[in-house]
Amino acid sequence: MKLPEELQFIANARMVQKTTAARMDGRLCILTGATSGVGYHAARRLAQGGANLVLVCRNREKANHVQQELAHQYRVDIDIVQADFSRLEDVRRAAETILAEHPRIDVLINNAGVHTTRRTLTGQGLETVFCVNHLASFLFTRLLLDRLIESAPARIIQVNSQGHRFGGLDLEDLNWEKRRYRGLQGYGASKTAQLLTVWELADRLQGSGVTINAMHPGEVRSNIGMNNGWFYRSYQRYLLWRFLKDPEISGNAIYYLAAAPEMASVSGKFFNQTIEEKPAAHALDRIVGRRIWSISEALTGLTGNV
Ligand SMILES: NC(=O)c1ccc[n+]([C@@H]2O[C@H](COP(=O)([O-])OP(=O)(O)OC[C@H]3O[C@@H](n4cnc5c(N)ncnc54)[C@H](OP(=O)(O)O)[C@@H]3O)[C@@H](O)[C@H]2O)c1
Repeated sequence: MKLPEELQFIANARMVQKTTAARMDGRLCILTGATSGVGYHAARRLAQGGANLVLVCRNREKANHVQQELAHQYRVDIDIVQADFSRLEDVRRAAETILAEHPRIDVLINNAGVHTTRRTLTGQGLETVFCVNHLASFLFTRLLLDRLIESAPARIIQVNSQGHRFGGLDLEDLNWEKRRYRGLQGYGASKTAQLLTVWELADRLQGSGVTINAMHPGEVRSNIGMNNGWFYRSYQRYLLWRFLKDPEISGNAIYYLAAAPEMASVSGKFFNQTIEEKPAAHALDRIVGRRIWSISEALTGLTGNV
């Protein structure tokens, strides 16, 4: 039985995923949030494929463990840059460090993400989930963009989520001051904003040799949400956990999108792991997309055209 288009993501999750035998020897991948879950497995798979890595992580101790473990197993260079993505000044500092130390960037993978059940604000007064999941990756990508273009062919991968289908993006209330905050909708809003800016950036990058795509990494066991209260944590660990998959599948999917030769010129698409999929209709609204692009530029202090 064929599912209606808006439910096709359920069938796609069960499809056999694509893989590649292509290697990434000597290529440089910048990866955010590599200390657990999806990002950790992406780092493992990329190192196994020969890629050199810059791990952009907020917790240096955890990042050191990942670095030591992977450097012990694979003959690749692994650097760490510390940054808390709820602080946009950290994002700027991380980008400056990378630009100073790495003359080329082959792949940028924005993976760091968070889900909170309660509304919290960053030091800059921004709703935290929106800041970490969308604004930080938006700013980071823009700050590294010229280097990616100089390094072309290059790829940008936004680790997004089926959670974008929860919606919640209200351009008049991005900070949830007028509505009661709901965790899933807040998460959905951040991921919707990210998707909308992927289409915008893909258009602007046409002909540059740099591609940008978004992906859902699968429903996998990770630490996401474990920053919430005991009720949510218990629900995740004792109920949800058994239905979740090994995050190794997410690492493999990210590797495919980063390395597969057949992905070299694919841009502006959403993938359910490795299967191209149509996102929710609200995440395809290009009028809202142009507005969230400008708002994101203003909130992150970006000036100048791409
Ligand atoms: N797991 C799933 O089923 C699933 C499904 C759909 C989408 N995703 C997406 O996959 C991505 C990775 O999530 P995950 O499931 O692997 O969760 P995770 O295990 O909690 O990993 C999240 C990563 O992001 C980092 N991070 C969180 N807040 C940060 C901040 N303020 N600054 C810098 N880094 C920060 C974490 O660092 P620490 O180690 O310091 O906490 C960790 O490395 C997210 O974008 C998430 O939305 C996951």
